[in-house]
Amino acid sequence: MTNTMKEKVLKLLDDAHVKYELIKLPENISLDVVDHMKFHSRPMKYALATMIYKTEQGFVAVQRRGDTKVSSKKLRAFLGARRLSLATMDELVQMGYEIGMVPPVGFEVPLYADLKMLEIDEIYCGAGDNEYGMLTSPKELFKVSKPVVCDVTEYEAQYIDHPRILSGITPSGSQLHIGNYFGAVAPQIALQDTHETYYFVADLHALTTVHDRENLEQNITGVVLDYLALGLNPDKCIFFRQSDVPAHSQLAVVLANYISYGQMKRMHAYKDKLQTGTNEESINMGLFNYPILMAADILLYKPYGVPVGEDQRQHIELTRDIAENFNKTYKTSTFPLPEPLISKEVGRIVGTDGERKMSKSLGNIIGIFEEEKVIEKQIMSCFTDPNRKKATDPGKVEGNPVFIYHDLMNDDKAQVAELKARYRAGEVGDVEVKGKLFEAHKRKFGEARARRAELEGNMDMVREILTGGAIKAQKLAGETLQEVYKVIGETNKLNN
Ligand code: TRP
Repeated sequence: MTNTMKEKVLKLLDDAHVKYELIKLPENISLDVVDHMKFHSRPMKYALATMIYKTEQGFVAVQRRGDTKVSSKKLRAFLGARRLSLATMDELVQMGYEIGMVPPVGFEVPLYADLKMLEIDEIYCGAGDNEYGMLTSPKELFKVSKPVVCDVTEYEAQYIDHPRILSGITPSGSQLHIGNYFGAVAPQIALQDTHETYYFVADLHALTTVHDRENLEQNITGVVLDYLALGLNPDKCIFFRQSDVPAHSQLAVVLANYISYGQMKRMHAYKDKLQTGTNEESINMGLFNYPILMAADILLYKPYGVPVGEDQRQHIELTRDIAENFNKTYKTSTFPLPEPLISKEVGRIVGTDGERKMSKSLGNIIGIFEEEKVIEKQIMSCFTDPNRKKATDPGKVEGNPVFIYHDLMNDDKAQVAELKARYRAGEVGDVEVKGKLFEAHKRKFGEARARRAELEGNMDMVREILTGGAIKAQKLAGETLQEVYKVIGETNKLNN
């Protein structure tokens, strides 16, 4: 922005008597918001981010908090737009903006602001040039910018300052593949370094489908070993089995009374089951009640956020409804409402057919813990550039599954760059590219594979980890259950 842009911005604010403070920035500060918030010593929650989008109706500006991300689905629905993409650098420059220095007011395109901005009283933003930052409040800014307020974002788990995160892992029995790993498991495990994490194996939930004793045991053991092998650290994360903490079942019995039959009938998991031809009369009640048990799983720990896949959104919404209804009934604030933390990346990783999402049932996976021979075969049969007939034809790297996987799991970035260059020039064959991918897989997952084998041979250690986790979980869950019993009147002068 030019100086005149900054002057224009300040004049707009002054004319409306907006309270703001200018903060001199260090000279060499980068354009990255994360660096700015480090300089201000404030969490990302208080950063303002303005994004310019292009739709078939023209450009729009969307403002959000730094700890959230725009959900393109929500935004498209809100705008009634079919196409939506971020404006390119060129387009921004044409509109007169300098990247990273977009001012908070003075837009010439329609402005939308996310609702969550109204939950905070202070916000840091640019002032129109790179010398000064600005501190003001969303409500003050909105006096001038008069945005259309909308609900179009999701929280970004990594930036949440309120620390407690909880999630459950269903022991479904299918082996983890690299799509699960990079899309869901790795980001989930990474949260243990920055947040207070409670992760549990939802073994009681598994009963909705698994009615074979050996099978159930195998499935449960499988996920426990997978997560521990892949880096879940019981010193950092409270890791336990749902069935080891009786409060889950106990709270579920209570919570069932704060949700209607009608609302339960609208849950997708139940409706989907009906659609696949299962007769309503024969649906097992465990499946029907599943969302109530899940609400108990969550509310016992009063987490701020629950990282899950998109398919679980409705369950978190139901959990919020139950919590709200309970709080309202007893005029308490027993249950804070949990936020769904839904990563866009989940499930997005393309399969080895180069077309559909990686999924066990489609047979287009690359495994993690299978025998090396199996993994080698999965990698060697991966689709590449379909238009390339021989190794001397120039090939396409973008969207090519083999290179997507190289980017994800080959830590030797120089090698990846060199392979891409040779591939584009028609100077390398698929066999070499895939061979190097197999080597990269071994480097990436070798340690996890060894660790899994080691754990498998030392079940005493696994049991110890789970017992330790259960004890810690029981403490918090037990406290919440007691609190609930008091609120509802089950704990009274007869027993206390
Ligand atoms: N239903 C979740 C799934 O299928 C697993 C789950 C059970 C869960 N209880 C939970 C997830 C509580 C988050 C919080 O993926």
